Amino acid sequence: MTLKFRSPLSVQSQKFPSFGLPPPANLKCPVPKVYMPSSLRSPGSKEIENLKKPFGSPREIDIRVTHSMPPEKIEIFKSMEDWAEKNILVHLKPVEKSWQPQDFLPDSSSEGFYEQVKALRERSREIPDDYLVVMVGDMITEEALPTYQTFLNSLDGVRDETGASPTSWAVWIREWTAEENRHGDLLNKYLYLTGRVDMKQIEKTIQYLIGSGMNIRTENNPYLGFIYTSFQERATFISHGNTARLAKKHGDLKLAQICGTIAADEKRHETAYTNIVGKLFEIDPEGSVLALENMMRKKILMPAHLMYDGRDDNLFDHFSAVAQRLGVYTAKDYADILEFLVSRWNVEKLTGLSGEGKKAQDYVCGLAPKIRRLDERVQCRAKQALSLPFSWVFDRDVKL
Ligand SMILES: [Fe+2]
Ligand SMILES: [Fe+2]
Repeated sequence: MTLKFRSPLSVQSQKFPSFGLPPPANLKCPVPKVYMPSSLRSPGSKEIENLKKPFGSPREIDIRVTHSMPPEKIEIFKSMEDWAEKNILVHLKPVEKSWQPQDFLPDSSSEGFYEQVKALRERSREIPDDYLVVMVGDMITEEALPTYQTFLNSLDGVRDETGASPTSWAVWIREWTAEENRHGDLLNKYLYLTGRVDMKQIEKTIQYLIGSGMNIRTENNPYLGFIYTSFQERATFISHGNTARLAKKHGDLKLAQICGTIAADEKRHETAYTNIVGKLFEIDPEGSVLALENMMRKKILMPAHLMYDGRDDNLFDHFSAVAQRLGVYTAKDYADILEFLVSRWNVEKLTGLSGEGKKAQDYVCGLAPKIRRLDERVQCRAKQALSLPFSWVFDRDVKL
């Protein structure tokens, strides 16, 4: 059998109307998003047009922009070093006080290992396939951690220049990564032990995903990058919290505890990232509100948006549709996160902005209700329920 290889620069699926969100359940063939040849310009070049589209436009042209933060603003991040040490690094947990995956897993060195595995498998027997699909998608997203560390190290002014740099920013990036690494490990081992999922297909999906990377259009710009991470940490906090709630409902209290514990880490990370952006709003309100507008116009794409298992060209959309149907992560959550961040950063109360800054302020402050209204219309139209086979659960059909 020939495997189709999908390049991140090839034609891709677009969630429609996107927001980086699940597609309506009746949308089997999402509108293609075409990557323009101009996205192949040489790295390091400063780009170019930033094509802004009106809200809700179904087609999106991606012009890859790099290094969009003016070099003089790098000083802002240098001057925040001490502040970051006192206000950001404190949200990390020392290793000796951190939980480890082993705390939640059968102990393979103990006499009772087989009994513990048997009990785990008993508990997970009643978990439905749609829930498993969402858990697998969440686990795969966590497992693509090399991509996220690479992304953080792409950001001008904060990257870890040597791989062991002592700056607060570099320490944060490494230790954040080290904390996050436990998430994928734990979920992977747990799902493996249930015997309910096709591990080889999952492992292939992880390899494809790390190989593809992600294109979240943060332009090496730490303003955009930290807005993205603020959004994402809250999104993962919400989705792991919801999978915890559902695991409890399905009778697997251990899995509920695992998801809840991971959600608590995401919450700490959310606090750190939202504090960074909060500080940027204090120092540079104009630059920050323009950055928030920039990211929201482009829509926050999920980190695993290039997911592929060697079979399903729209795997991410299909996984997202199941997550939306189960209420694990929905368009409403997307709007709620935006509203939360706008309020956390006091965007409505910003003063002294230029005309452009005021327009950006109006745009981001008015966006959440628009997203909710649009989502209601999409939900009304999405009546036809489709089922599709997911390779992760041995090609069993799962309702989207
Ligand atoms: Fe995580
Ligand atoms: Fe996280």
